[in-house]
Order: sequence, then structure tokens, then C-alpha cells
Amino acid sequence: MKTQIEKIREEFLKQLALIKDNEELRELELKYLSRKGEFSEIMHGLKDVSIELRKELGELANTVKGEMQTKFEEVRHSLESFAKKSDFIDVTLPGEKIENGHIHPVTLVQNELEDLFTSLGFMIGDGPELESDYYNFTALNVPPLHPARDMQDTFYIESKNKEDQYDLVMRTQTSPVQIRLMQKYGAPLKAIIPGRCFRNEATDSRHEHTFYQVEGIMVGKDINFANLKSLLEIVGKKLFGANTELRMRPKFFPFVEPGNNGEYTCFLCQGKGCRVCKYTGWLEIVGAGLIHPDVLRAGGVDPEIYSGLAFGFGLNRLAMLKYNINDVRLFNSGDIKFLEQF
Ligand code: DAH
Repeated sequence: MKTQIEKIREEFLKQLALIKDNEELRELELKYLSRKGEFSEIMHGLKDVSIELRKELGELANTVKGEMQTKFEEVRHSLESFAKKSDFIDVTLPGEKIENGHIHPVTLVQNELEDLFTSLGFMIGDGPELESDYYNFTALNVPPLHPARDMQDTFYIESKNKEDQYDLVMRTQTSPVQIRLMQKYGAPLKAIIPGRCFRNEATDSRHEHTFYQVEGIMVGKDINFANLKSLLEIVGKKLFGANTELRMRPKFFPFVEPGNNGEYTCFLCQGKGCRVCKYTGWLEIVGAGLIHPDVLRAGGVDPEIYSGLAFGFGLNRLAMLKYNINDVRLFNSGDIKFLEQF
């Protein structure tokens, strides 16, 4: 019986060392220490032995049981305090910082223009970035071999457009979407077309191969130069403040007649002259004009009945002015330190 007690003790301690959770602990308690456990059986057995032996074995059994109980409590304790520790939240610790995304500065300016033009009843149009040579140039009054093609060197794709067998180009401007929208919706039509454009540029702080424009088109009966001027004035005041003035100077663009450059009072020096406006007091912002009759025709609109105006903003340039950015290449750099500032 003595060895039996020793064996129980040994076995108990071995199993106690392997305990991982409360469940296992409870099972062990049931098996060894409960009223129906192995120790109780030993105690029952004591009544069949001699008085002397009963005394000796009884004492031994009690000491061993006491020792087992203490060890058991120790393990129970450490399990409890471990559970407490892992539940504990220190509310005074500094929180984990959740990084916010940022809207790209070009998108900010685009959103501003979209808000303005939709409030004036313009729809927002879209067109392909990989464009047919016909839409990008020919339909806009720049036929093959026309010298105006030199103004916009681009990337040609080797394969041809499946539908019309024209060459494919990465569009150099958003202007081809003017034709696509006129063909789709006819006149009257009021739309702006924001989008990405591409040119074969030797890149530097002011030139980039990939950039953004917002095109505008308005076609209807009796659309005239006064409409164009007032529209561009509204845009200028919205972008650069209520005191902004507009001046329009002639400039050749093949798809408009007359064509011109819209310039706004430099908002940095209020027209006094500074480095940014090259001491002229004016910022060249927008190409514009009245749509050439050939371009209306290419869009399926009869120039005898309808006329139209068109304009094109360079979004990168607008964002550079607005946020005082000095290198156009930052826009496509993916530089987080740059983007986080907006
Ligand atoms: N597409 C021209 C460019 O990229 C900008 C432009 C000028 C657009 C005059 C127009 C316009 O619609 O009327 O340089």
C-alpha cells in the first residue's frame, strides 16, 4: 500500500506538469483529489489493515495528499494569473496609428472642376487612352503629314485599330473625346472630359510623358465667343478667387477657329508680376476656341445649324500652381512623402 501511495503521488506530479488549461486541471482534480478519486480509495482500504499499520499509512497518505493539494493549488494559481495578464488592456498606452489614404493633388483639382461644371449642367464624359490616329488627329483637323502633328509627338502602337485599320496612338490630348461624344449624343451637348494623356517628351521639371487634362465642349444653336469668355471667367474665379480676371490672346489650335489662350491674373502676385508668371502678371492656363466646322462635321453635327466652343485645361499645371509644386515628375513618382501632404 505504501508503494501504491508513492506511485499515485509520482503519477499525479507527472501529469500536473503537463497541464495546459483549466479543463485539464479539473480532470486531474477529479481523478486524484475528489471524493471518488484515487486517494479516497486508498483511505477506504485502510479500514482492512491492522491498527498500527493504519496509523502509519494514514499519516503517510495525509502528508502526500497535502503535498499534492499544495502543488495543485500552485498550478491553478499560475493558470489564473496568466489568464488575467492576457486579458489586461493598458488604456494609457499610445494608440496604434491608422494611416489615412490621401487624394492625389491632380484628383483634387479634377474634382473641383467636375463639381463646378456639373453645377453648370455639364455631363462628364470618358474616352479611351489608347486612341485611333483618326480620332486623336485627323478628325480634329490634323490629317496625316499635317505640320501640326509635330506639336504633339506621341507613342505609336505597332498593331492597328481593328475597326477602321487606323494606327493606334496613346492619346496626346483629351480632345478626341469631343468627336466621340458628338457622334454618340449629337447636339446640343455640354460635357467635360477629364483624363490621362501621353506624349513623347524629354522629361524635366516641367515636362512629363504622362499627364492629365480636362477637355470641355459645348455645342448648340448660337454658341458664340461671348459664351466661351463668360464660361472661362467663371472657371477662373472659382479656381483662383473672385478678383481673377481673364484675358484671351489668339493662338493656333487646329480644331478651333478662332483659337486662343486663356490667361488669368496671377493669383500669387495679384497681377503685379512675379517669378511664377514670369513678371507678366498673367498665367497661361487654358487653350480654347470655337469649334472648327470640319470638327463638328467629323462629329456628325451640321455646322450650318450648330456651333460650339471647346477648351482644354492642363490639370498637372493647375495642381502645380495651386499647391506650389515645383516638379511635374512628382505626380507620377508614387512618393509617399509627397502624396501625404495633400
Ligand atoms: N488639346 C490642346 C492641347 O493639348 C488643348 C486645347 C486647346 C483643347 C484648345 C481645346 C481647345 O479644346 O479648344 O494642347
